[in-house]
Amino acid sequence: MAKDPSRRRALTVLAGAGATGALAAVALPSARLVAGPASGGSSGRPWVQVARLTELPEGQPARVRVIADQHDGYTTAKQQPLGQVWLLRKGAEVLAFTATCPHLGCTIDLAPDGKHFFCPCHTSWFDLDGKKTEGKPNKSLRGLDALPVRVTAEKTVEVQFLRFQTGTAKAEVLG
Ligand code: FES
Repeated sequence: MAKDPSRRRALTVLAGAGATGALAAVALPSARLVAGPASGGSSGRPWVQVARLTELPEGQPARVRVIADQHDGYTTAKQQPLGQVWLLRKGAEVLAFTATCPHLGCTIDLAPDGKHFFCPCHTSWFDLDGKKTEGKPNKSLRGLDALPVRVTAEKTVEVQFLRFQTGTAKAEVLG
């Protein structure tokens, strides 16, 4: 496989259960094998390495920064922060959700109980599988936006980082 500079990414694991300090910053090798789930609406988007599988505690969400080269016309800005993603390891698989609230775009946090995602801006609650939490206040019209995610043969976790229209019932990927 040819070396792709866009795949050399840095990772910062921001939070397990509410911690804000950086726990890790590592350069990751290139990917070879798709082994995790992925969803549609993302063909052609680059895969960005965001974590090592072994860094992710089983069943405990971890928030990571997505850092990658950004291409705009004829220019490339190296290693730009694109956004944040919540990862949740389930055995050998990983779920990934953008940390942008689908209501109006605030940053999704982990609730103090560690069993829900929460947006404090206008109060929205989500289960750890991204669904809106039944019986809790929720201004969002939809659940969290899942991102395509895969685990490579080297046990690195990669996502296709997408931005979504906020305030709609249906998830719409922005260009
Ligand atoms: S932006 Fe999250 S609830 Fe409004």
